[in-house]
Amino acid sequence: MAILKLYTYPDKVLSQKCEAVSAVTDDIRKLMDDMLETMYADKGVGLAAPQVGITKRIIVVDDKVSEDGTPGLNPRFLVNPEIIKKSEDMIWFNEGCLSVPGQCAEVERHRAVTVRYLDYYGKEQILDAEEYLAVIIQHETDHLDGILYIDRISRLKRNMIIKKLKKQSEE
Ligand code: NI
Repeated sequence: MAILKLYTYPDKVLSQKCEAVSAVTDDIRKLMDDMLETMYADKGVGLAAPQVGITKRIIVVDDKVSEDGTPGLNPRFLVNPEIIKKSEDMIWFNEGCLSVPGQCAEVERHRAVTVRYLDYYGKEQILDAEEYLAVIIQHETDHLDGILYIDRISRLKRNMIIKKLKKQSEE
């Protein structure tokens, strides 16, 4: 496995719509293994392929990463994830993103979602997710459509975060 380069805002790769994966091959599995290792190395709970510069519809998530970043508790690999059901009730969640380093903001999300996807072996699965896991899945599938969490907050807060990012990168 290998740790991949992370792409950060405002890299163009993060605002592209990703392509569906036609088959879950060994190459795709290797990419997913590397994505998971990269995610754990940065103490993330989710990572989407465009964040490592690959515009394919693949996400990895692990809602059981502990506070100190201890990995490997509950990894999931989702290829071509499609949210097929969303709860009407919403929740607010304080979100961060490895592509928007050092920042976070409250984002409104559906409290529960049902997602259909292909698993690590290319088998179709359906997952009902609630709360934290549902939030992660919504955040990561957004990445596949070129949407970052900062696109879902007020313009004022978004501009504040962008300003801080610019300052960070100048330092
Ligand atoms: Ni993200």
